[in-house]
Amino acid sequence: MQKIFLPIVALAALMAMPASAQKKGDAAKGKEVYEQCGVCHASATDEKKMGPSMKGLYKKAALKNGKKVSDASVTEAIKKGGNGMPPFEEILTADEMTNLLAYLKTL
Ligand code: HEC
Repeated sequence: MQKIFLPIVALAALMAMPASAQKKGDAAKGKEVYEQCGVCHASATDEKKMGPSMKGLYKKAALKNGKKVSDASVTEAIKKGGNGMPPFEEILTADEMTNLLAYLKTL
């Protein structure tokens, strides 16, 4: 019995790990993801390129669509796109999105 029990505990511990490690995004990795946004969005200045600057995004009260700036509303804006903003729903993985949001918060 013991021979079976041990591997199961080890496996359960392994499976539990990624879930807790995933929560917090990695801003450095998010910056790499942002390279595909930088053509249209400034990040260091308020300059308007194709789209609005991402500088201070999380310090703004609301997005252009009037929704309060939050992980949910920003994720939706990025996934759905519209008005010249391409939809990234099928381009970014969940991890890339988490890292991207962590980076946007540093701007
Ligand atoms: C082809 C140019 C282009 C690319 C590439 C692009 N965007 Fe956009 N984005 C836009 C435009 C244009 C808008 C303004 C849409 C509008 O007026 O509703 C926008 C809007 C947004 C908004 C909403 C801003 C607000 O205040 O409402 C966010 C957030 C955003 N983009 C993030 C990103 C991120 C993150 C990426 C990279 C994954 C990205 N964009 C890539 C053109 C682009």
